[in-house]
Amino acid sequence: MARVVSAVDDRPVGVFDSGFGGLTVARALIDLLPGEQLVYVGDTARYPYGPRPAAEVRRYAEEIAEHLVAVEGVKMLVVACNTAASAALEVLRDGCGVPVVGVVEPGLRAALDATRQGRVGVIGTVGTIASGSYQRAARELAPEVELSCAACPGFVEFVERGDTDSDQVHVLAERLLSPLREVGVDTLLLGCTHYPFLARTIADVMGRDVLLVSSAEETAFDVRQILESTGLRADPARHPEHRFLSSGDTAWFAEMGGRLLGPELARAHAVTFGRAGTGSSSRAGPTG
Ligand code: DGL
Repeated sequence: MARVVSAVDDRPVGVFDSGFGGLTVARALIDLLPGEQLVYVGDTARYPYGPRPAAEVRRYAEEIAEHLVAVEGVKMLVVACNTAASAALEVLRDGCGVPVVGVVEPGLRAALDATRQGRVGVIGTVGTIASGSYQRAARELAPEVELSCAACPGFVEFVERGDTDSDQVHVLAERLLSPLREVGVDTLLLGCTHYPFLARTIADVMGRDVLLVSSAEETAFDVRQILESTGLRADPARHPEHRFLSSGDTAWFAEMGGRLLGPELARAHAVTFGRAGTGSSSRAGPTG
């Protein structure tokens, strides 16, 4: 009987975010695709991306993508940051030579599947909401749906500090989410990958009738589909060790990141990119 030999590609998948937020996507990827090795970059030296001009975020995304492709040798890129995906997805798709997946469209698809009354809310950073990326995607995918968007400045900073359920977060959430409560959305898309870490607070404020949707799982399904259709799947039987890189404090990244992601993140390595507002260059640094 003929033996079927299928090719495997054990190169890693690159994932990046401004900080801890993309770990929500990394979690979904590890759970769905345990044979795939991840190299994760948290650009914590330059977070938050949300208040920065789109051109600056685009430059950061290009630097990180270049590092992941040229230095880490990734076979695919996951832009696990809505702000960076809103600013740079097309540029990365055109320029980095490997398949690129973002979080905006997968997240929106999941919210559109979930809504019962066609009233969907999206919350994200100032950069994401101002870019109009969700509004454009919704016009294309489901023009009949009533989409209400709200920026939530400050949420990312709470998560990066490790504060996900204090009274202060609650007070801020009450203020920022009240317009969405008033329009009566039935589904709320967490359009920033940091926000699932605030899900308990957000759910508390929005009420039990509102369904919260994260982009993480749907993005992981998209990644699987692309790896399969392009013949890039790794050996599913292996259990690779993932690599986590941070441009900021690596000890804090390992400590807080381990709490948020789980035991796969036990240590973080240093990586250096161009400083905020300056030109680019990247190189891997020593372990931290
Ligand atoms: N996780 C990023 C996002 O999804 C946060 C951006 C930031 O650093 O402000 O938009």
